[in-house]
Formats: sequence, structure tokens, C-alpha cells
Amino acid sequence: MLRFDDRVAIITGAGHGLGRSHALLLAERGAKVVVNDLGGALDGSGASAGPAAEVAGLITKNGGQAVASTDDISTPEGARAVVQAAVDAFGRVDIVVNNAGILRDRSLGKMTVEDFDSVLAVHVRGSYLVSQAAYPLMKAAGYGRVVNTTSPAGLFGNFGQANYSTAKMGLVGLTKTIAIEGARNGIRANAIAPIAWTRMTESLLPAEFEAKFTPERVSALVAYLVHESCEVSGEVFSVGAGRVARVFVAEGPGWKTDDLTPEAIADNWQSVMAEQPYVQSATDSLKAML
Ligand code: NAI
Repeated sequence: MLRFDDRVAIITGAGHGLGRSHALLLAERGAKVVVNDLGGALDGSGASAGPAAEVAGLITKNGGQAVASTDDISTPEGARAVVQAAVDAFGRVDIVVNNAGILRDRSLGKMTVEDFDSVLAVHVRGSYLVSQAAYPLMKAAGYGRVVNTTSPAGLFGNFGQANYSTAKMGLVGLTKTIAIEGARNGIRANAIAPIAWTRMTESLLPAEFEAKFTPERVSALVAYLVHESCEVSGEVFSVGAGRVARVFVAEGPGWKTDDLTPEAIADNWQSVMAEQPYVQSATDSLKAML
């Protein structure tokens, strides 16, 4: 059994849905958990201490160790306070699961700057800020595990979610860069693209999905990725209803000529669009151009 005794985990947005399930699973397996949740509505409005306190209370009642944090992780002060809560209560940070999220769905023509900025602030800025605040502690310890939460909507696009999909693809870049920068200090970072029945999706998914797409079926992957035995880093995984699959950003072999013209591109379009053998790093992409 993969256990987390003596490990300290920060889970943002852990008052509901997926974060709650991640927190309960890690705590059940021995982790000391900071249950962070602002306690607002799905669109990010409002705040309440209730959800974080309820989950931290449940963990404690079950014999685990947890503290509640109601800090807003989209602000530098809030992100620092979450990490400080971990240090004050448990003395270290080993695991960060950036899970907090909001939705402000609207088609591109109707989206306001506020809708766009607020969604990016929670998902992207929040994940960056909490990771950055925990980073020096992880670096000093020579150990860290970060999981960011992307989405199929970000990886593939989705109607009405220009803000959300931009944020979620941004998290793929953040994840890959944390993985590169953290590699020599034992810090591993990965992203999950989940599907689960939560308050975020209950009005979108068919009713029969509730029993199959449980948050617990996503948390199992999170627990694996944040375990000390898992050296995987810089990857993205689709996860839902018991299925786990690697998602990868890849570049095809491409087609090149010394005399590139718009017409030459049109004439060789099939080669431009070819998928294999694919290239998977910025360095290999550059090499293919030389
Ligand atoms: P949820 O609404 O149940 O949970 C999100 C939690 O984040 C809420 O408890 C909310 O209070 C908290 N939160 C929001 N803003 C915050 C802030 N500034 N500071 C601290 N906490 C904040 O939704 P769900 O489904 O559990 O979502 C969790 C994550 O998974 C989100 O990042 C979401 O975008 C992502 N996701 C979920 C999918 C699904 O199928 N449920 C699909 C793809 C991605």
C-alpha cells in the first residue's frame, strides 16, 4: 500500500468535489493535510469557512491530521498564508495539489474581461503562486511533489470556455516548467485532466455518470503521482471513471525546404500535417529545423 506517513500535503480547493476527495485519501494514508478552500460559489463569488472546516474536521474525526485554511490562493498573500499554515502546523511541505477552480462560462463574443481575468487568476495565478511559495521549502528538502489540475477543455478546447481553456492549457506549461526547474532538487510535477461528478459538472453530465465518474476514481491517480516512489515528471494524464491515459504534446516530423513559399506549403500540406515520428521537446523541435 502506498502510504504518506510524515508527509505534509497542501490541497487547494479541498472543501468540495475533487480536492475534498484527494484530501480524504491522502489523510487516510497517513499524510498531514492542509485543507484549503475559500468556500465561495462556483463562479468564485462569496466566501465561507464552512467547507474547509468540514473536511479538516472529518479527517481529524477519522483519526488523521489536518488543518483548515480559507485563504484565497489567487492572491500572493493568500498563497503565502496557505504554505505558512502547513509550516506552522506540520513544519514542512512535501506535496502541493493545485486543484482550486472556478467557472465563468460564456461564449467569446459575450465574455467580459472580468470573466477572463478572474478565471485565469484562480487557476493559473493561484497554481503558480502556491507552487512558488512552497518551492523554497521543497528545494531545501530536496524533495517535492506537485500536481496541477488541467482539463480536457484546455487540452482540446470547449465551446463557451475561452477563459477556462486558456487557463487550463496554461497549467500544462506551468507543470512542464516546474518539472524542468525542479528536476535536480527532487521535485516532480505533473498535471491531471479529470472528469468527475462534482458541483462543477453535475448540470453538464448525464445523471447516470454520477456513480461511474466518482472523485475517488481521480484521487487514486493523484495519490500515485505524489507518492515518493513515483519519479514521473512533466506529464499530463487524462483520468476519469477508472481510466488513466497519458496525454502528450507532440510535434510531427515536419517538412522543410530552403525555399519556403506559401505555395510550397500548400503543395506539401500532407507532409506538414504528418504525425509520426513525432518530436516531444523544444530542443528536438529546434534540431529538426536545422
Ligand atoms: P468544485 O467547485 O467542487 O471544487 C473547486 C473548489 O475550489 C471549491 O471548493 C471552491 O471553493 C475552491 N476555490 C475556488 N476558488 C478558490 C480560491 N481562490 N482559493 C481557494 N479555493 C478556491 O469543482 P471540482 O470539479 O472539484 O474541481 C476541482 C478542479 O478540477 C478544478 O480546478 C476544475 O477546474 C478541475 N476540473 C474538474 C473537472 C470535473 O469533471 N469535475 C473537469 C476538469 C477539470
